[in-house]
Amino acid sequence: MLTHPLTDTAEMRALEPAYAAQFAAFIEQHRAHLAPWLPWATALIDEPQTRAWLQRYADDAARDAGRIYGIWLDGELVGGTLFRTFDVRFSTAEIGVWLAPHAQGQGLITRAATRMIAWAVEERGINRVEWRTVPGNAPSIACAKRLGMTLDGVLREAFPHQGVHHDVRVYSLLAAEWRDRSHR
Ligand SMILES: CC(C)(COP(=O)(O)OP(=O)(O)OC[C@H]1O[C@@H](n2cnc3c(N)ncnc32)[C@H](O)[C@@H]1OP(=O)(O)O)[C@@H](O)C(=O)NCCC(=O)NCCS
Repeated sequence: MLTHPLTDTAEMRALEPAYAAQFAAFIEQHRAHLAPWLPWATALIDEPQTRAWLQRYADDAARDAGRIYGIWLDGELVGGTLFRTFDVRFSTAEIGVWLAPHAQGQGLITRAATRMIAWAVEERGINRVEWRTVPGNAPSIACAKRLGMTLDGVLREAFPHQGVHHDVRVYSLLAAEWRDRSHR
């Protein structure tokens, strides 16, 4: 996949290290919106750090162990998605997502995540796609539900972030549920 259209004006592409400057500028601009939920939005404060972080995902992709994508709307990098984990041996993968405030509310993440699930399940044989979020993140929970995911349970205080040990809700979609959903 070099680029995949999401709408007439939006597309997703692999977020390769070559996009480090664009991604660093994106994080800088939207840090306050992203940081309450995503540790990397606080940690990545310049282009070299951002490039190194993207390089880790490029290395993961080469090992078939993770992937990261950007979402461009009218040519502007406005968000992204990732396979935080991608484990062929255990047939599981976890999706993570983010968007600039002005790109929310258009279904871009739902479309991008649907494309990722289709690829993971149909082309790569992944059986279980996970989505993890804190209980207070209503837009993220709404995405998981919109994707047809089921709440597996709560990992109590599993996510230390900004001085608080947050609970983590684990949602998942199984391959059989995905196939059933696609044929509805
Ligand atoms: C989580 C986050 C990515 C969700 O963004 P989002 O815009 O709500 O999600 P989507 O792009 O899927 O859009 C869904 C919205 O578009 C609307 N929409 C419009 N057309 C749509 C379509 N064709 N398909 C699906 N939804 C559509 C939906 O109704 C929904 O709007 P609503 O929330 O007002 O009901 C965003 O809030 C974010 O970046 N938050 C900060 C970072 C973060 O929390 N990341 C997740 C950590 S777990």
